[in-house]
Amino acid sequence: MTQLTSFLVDFDMSLESAFAMPRLDASMASVVCDQRLGAEIIAALARRLPVEVVEPVLYPPRFCHSLGGDARGGDRAQHRHDTHALAGRRCRRRAPVTARVLEPLAYGAAQRREWPLDPAVVYLNHGGYGVSPHAVQQEQESWRRRIERNPMRFFSQELSAPLRAAATVLAELLGARGDDIVFVDNATTGCNAVLRSLDFKPGDEILITDLAYGAIAKAARYVAARTGATVVDAHIPLPLRDNGAVIAAIAERLGPRTRLAVFDHVASHSALVLPVAELTRLAHGAGARVLVDGAHAPGQLAVDLRSIGADWYVGNCHKWLLAPRGCGFLWAEPPQQALVHPLAISHGYGSGFLAEFDWTGTRDPSPFLALPAAIACHRRLGGEVLMARNAGLARQAARRLAERWRTGLGGPEDSFAAMVTVRLAARRRGDGGKRSGALPTVALRGAPHRGGDHGAGRRALGPHRRPGL
Ligand SMILES: Cc1ncc(COP(=O)(O)O)c(C=O)c1O
Repeated sequence: MTQLTSFLVDFDMSLESAFAMPRLDASMASVVCDQRLGAEIIAALARRLPVEVVEPVLYPPRFCHSLGGDARGGDRAQHRHDTHALAGRRCRRRAPVTARVLEPLAYGAAQRREWPLDPAVVYLNHGGYGVSPHAVQQEQESWRRRIERNPMRFFSQELSAPLRAAATVLAELLGARGDDIVFVDNATTGCNAVLRSLDFKPGDEILITDLAYGAIAKAARYVAARTGATVVDAHIPLPLRDNGAVIAAIAERLGPRTRLAVFDHVASHSALVLPVAELTRLAHGAGARVLVDGAHAPGQLAVDLRSIGADWYVGNCHKWLLAPRGCGFLWAEPPQQALVHPLAISHGYGSGFLAEFDWTGTRDPSPFLALPAAIACHRRLGGEVLMARNAGLARQAARRLAERWRTGLGGPEDSFAAMVTVRLAARRRGDGGKRSGALPTVALRGAPHRGGDHGAGRRALGPHRRPGL
């Protein structure tokens, strides 16, 4: 922290006006209000800014009483003084909650030393298998050391609390409840858990799109083959004209037999961000349940599970959210939790969603336990600012390539986040030298360790040619 200024958010100030405060770049934010609301404001701020809640600073009753009477007219300088002087003393009525606003780290070349990446490589595919900064790897290592000090005690007595705490931290980021989230090794495992748990019958239909990730489409076909259900593919025409074309394609293939619809939040090959909330409403309207495959979404774009409204949402934290590899999750709407079981049935079977997924046999839980550190790191890198920057980088690169090749993007620019597809200019044999009207494309992906200086920015604009991750 360099600045130690603080500002007050009055106890009756709305969240909107708190966000409009001019000093949100200050390094210390005090929220004077009852503690529950204070914590809520800070949590909401934290979703937008790189802030973290420090120890709540508590006021004694006399001071709180006067604050409660006239907090708006309060003397801010006096408040700052008192905040420090009175720290640590208790108040039941009103108390400020203090958050530290962390300075965002520098991006691009300046960021490289924070990462284990080979300095000779401009790493273009951050979203492929993910990469964790040193700070997150150290956190993971410290969990591993703690486990190894007494594995018996750790697994039998200690694991549950930090695992649930990690789920709660993730839930806050995704607008959900920690108790509705379980960890899985990756998105493939999470999607399989849903697909393979549901009780399909002959004649039932599983709707997917032709943009679905290959592994998940295969899992759907595997389940269909074993149950007599049918996989129905909705064709999404590319390059995409607009979201209306996605909605029309799904509407055309939904029917009374559709039991489950699987939608990618960010479709891997095409990089398109699909309108999953609208698609979910459409599928629900047709009586189908919805699984959203968000393998590429958390950390690449803001995810609000409540507003999507799906029945199940699966995501990876090891791609864009900087967690160690092997950190996926499954969120389930409470009424849908009893319908799904992990791929490995273990001791928790029959004891509920959390019990079943929290223990699926002995494994290394350190990727899950290091997740809060990864989320803190993502936030420290800017959170939403980072996501917007990555999207900006990828779009800028895509525009340049499309101009140079005189082609176009795989869809409207606002249908992409930190990955964009660009149509290739390559001539194909037999097309009379015309540019191909269909994809192939290259995908461009943004990342915090990219594009910090001008030269690095240009170097970072090269294509990623291996689709499918
Ligand atoms: C849409 C989608 N689903 C699932 C996956 C599989 O992710 P994982 O290999 O982590 O299971 C990917 C990987 O990129 C993906 O893009």
